[in-house]
Amino acid sequence: MSTPDTARCPIDHAAMLGPTGCPISPGAAAFDPFADGYQQSPPDYLRWSREQEPVFYSPKLGYWVVTRYDDVKAVFRDHQTFSASIALEKITPTADEANAVLASYDYAMNRTLVNEEEPAHMARRRVLIQPFTPEALAEHEPMVRRVAREYVDKFIDDGRADLVDQMLWEAPLTIGLHFLGVPEEDMDQLRQYSIAHTVNTWGRPQPEEQVAVAHAVGNFWQLSGKILQKMRQNPDAPGWMPYGICKQKDYPEVVTDSYLHSMMMAGIVASHETTANGIANALKSLLQQPDVWQELCDDPSLIPSAVEECIRHNGSVAAWRRLATRDAVVGGVHIPAGAKLLIVMSSANHDERHFADAGRVDIRRDNASDHLTFGYGSHQCMGKNLARLELQVFLQEFTKRLPHMRLAEQRFDYLPNTSFRGPKHLWVEWDPAHNPERAHPAILAQQQPVRLGEPSRQTVTRPMRVERVTRLTDDTVLLRLVAANGQPLPKWQPGAHIDVECGSAELSRQYSLCGDPADSGAYEIAVLRDAASRGGSSWVHEQLKEGDRLRIRGPRNHFRFDESAKKAVFIAGGIGITPIAAMAHRARLLGMDYEIHYSGRSRKLMPLLDTLIAEHGARLHVYPKDEGHRADLTALLATPQPEVRLYACGPERMLGALQACTAHWPDDTLRVEHFQTEPPTLDPAKEHAFEVELKDSGITLPVRADQTILSALKAANIDVQSDCCEGLCGSCEVRVLGGNVDHRDLVLTRGERDAQDRMMVCCSRAVGEKLVLEL
Ligand code: HEM
Ligand code: FES
Repeated sequence: MSTPDTARCPIDHAAMLGPTGCPISPGAAAFDPFADGYQQSPPDYLRWSREQEPVFYSPKLGYWVVTRYDDVKAVFRDHQTFSASIALEKITPTADEANAVLASYDYAMNRTLVNEEEPAHMARRRVLIQPFTPEALAEHEPMVRRVAREYVDKFIDDGRADLVDQMLWEAPLTIGLHFLGVPEEDMDQLRQYSIAHTVNTWGRPQPEEQVAVAHAVGNFWQLSGKILQKMRQNPDAPGWMPYGICKQKDYPEVVTDSYLHSMMMAGIVASHETTANGIANALKSLLQQPDVWQELCDDPSLIPSAVEECIRHNGSVAAWRRLATRDAVVGGVHIPAGAKLLIVMSSANHDERHFADAGRVDIRRDNASDHLTFGYGSHQCMGKNLARLELQVFLQEFTKRLPHMRLAEQRFDYLPNTSFRGPKHLWVEWDPAHNPERAHPAILAQQQPVRLGEPSRQTVTRPMRVERVTRLTDDTVLLRLVAANGQPLPKWQPGAHIDVECGSAELSRQYSLCGDPADSGAYEIAVLRDAASRGGSSWVHEQLKEGDRLRIRGPRNHFRFDESAKKAVFIAGGIGITPIAAMAHRARLLGMDYEIHYSGRSRKLMPLLDTLIAEHGARLHVYPKDEGHRADLTALLATPQPEVRLYACGPERMLGALQACTAHWPDDTLRVEHFQTEPPTLDPAKEHAFEVELKDSGITLPVRADQTILSALKAANIDVQSDCCEGLCGSCEVRVLGGNVDHRDLVLTRGERDAQDRMMVCCSRAVGEKLVLEL
């Protein structure tokens, strides 16, 4: 017998194996973050990875690359397994000659915050955080407005500008210097040096370029030292660096000389390039969609949420780095201790598993602020609210004074590097004769309030028009809603719902989407007339007619359909069929094994029944009560099947019975959607006060007997997502590190409750005196 061909195979198979001995796929082998594909759009360039190989080893880079939302967040979250120590390490090691140049400048860049390890990091972060609080940032707002105004004044009458060269590079530097407390006189030099630092740290300079870069970095280092010396003469001056100098007196071991000198340089980069690129990316994204830009100009109250969406969609920090301190598993892939990870936030921000219709700029996106552009966890960007403030003020200035500007023809180029991303130039054009301030100089005095901190979901609504009202049963109507401006709507995923404002902003109700997710022309919801309605469904049934306008929020999805499961069993009662209908439709399209069990009072009161029969045939089991049919859930669910997912929506009684019948099934098999619960009323006579310790923030907060944890967190300006505030939606989930939780939500499964490692802070409380939370 001849030897197998592989014995003579010309390919060096050993070279095709990663550090764990696993073969390297062609996509992983080709991955090159310095190539144009990544530079132009990291999320598009990594789409293949999100879909096929979400964690891979890149032989060209020597890093493990992580691209899905949950995995990137999990790496950020676990700062012990994944150390931030390499965040500022040179991604391309420099040659001896360049190193010698750096040494000649006594270059001694040390840990700052972003790459400092615990416990030193958190101690320093806590001492230095005060200037980043909303109250402290509010003092900078007039300065930010003045700087934005002065730059626009310079070119407003020209009709054409490169916004990067003429404003967006310098203005955030000026603002950053003010924030840091640095005098403006060294600005031009700093600008050059600051780019050099980016190339030095995150780029791939050629050997001859490395020497020039090293000189620039060395000069930057020395200039930073000189500026720091100047500051020490006047430590009472405003600014974050003088604040640090003052704190050094009380905490000399925490705020060291080496830290201050290093931060002087790193702080300029942190506050400058990130924001300069962020504004350029935001304007580019918005101007590329003239309808969206127009909407923002017409309604500037949308600016805070537009800022958040732009930071998600086209963020200025594309990827960040971590070092595995021990063997670990990320997304099911074994990562050996000592491995370096490139965690690509820009890819995570486009993960369809978390952001439906991720490629679209949707300035009303409900969960935009879930993005990971600011990192997450203990090192999350301290300057995020300064950046949000700047972006809002800049967008206000442009939408007010140059609403008629448009992108000029151009190709966008980027500085080749893994992490900091923004176009080198951004050419725009407009007709100065149409500058609104020429006809209405008063607009210059108009000022929108800025929102300091994360934008609230509750304020962002989507104007809609009722295109059609169809009676489905005696007590249910189907509403077909289209965007009021006639534009296509964001796509959604089965299980998603919208909040409908029923006649007033104070009265909103949640309705599952039951149409076709692929139909971007309209959203469909079925509304049952509830006899005990407090105004929601009776308003829909009595007042709403075709052609009417209304406002919705969302879509949002906390009832996700797992497309990878082998089989799905859907159980619906009455109007609970709406999310199930969308899921079953999807299951059929995917060719998945599934069955539907649909109960109701009588066939004529069971919405969507005819459509479901036509679509699902024998897979649909119908149980009309008046015909004596009852779903025998106990028999149906007698034998646990690990590969099956159960989805249920319907009356609380049915869901309660289901919980009981599936008690012997594996945890998390049953996924339910609840729509009715009692709003939490806290009776201080029955509740007790307790404390929550926030591990990552390093603070402890009291929670009064009449207060939710969520409101205590918000009062302390801790960003936590929230939505329903009734324990329904799962938005406010927080990890619990210590203490016993009195769970009062309807989101967690039995197994999750017992594990005592997470909770919904909008309603659940402490059993004892204290909880420790991962915040
Ligand atoms: C950390 C992004 C603006 C100061 C970070 C991190 C990222 C980031 C990704 C690392 C997070 C982690 O490891 O979890 C951004 C973006 C900005 C921005 C995208 C603008 C759009 C600013 C501004 C400042 C700032 C204006 C002001 C000085 C910091 C500091 C840290 C940091 C001090 C270190 C925090 C720590 O390690 O505890 N930023 N940043 N950033 N950023 Fe920002
Ligand atoms: Fe909805 Fe807490 S905000 S569960």
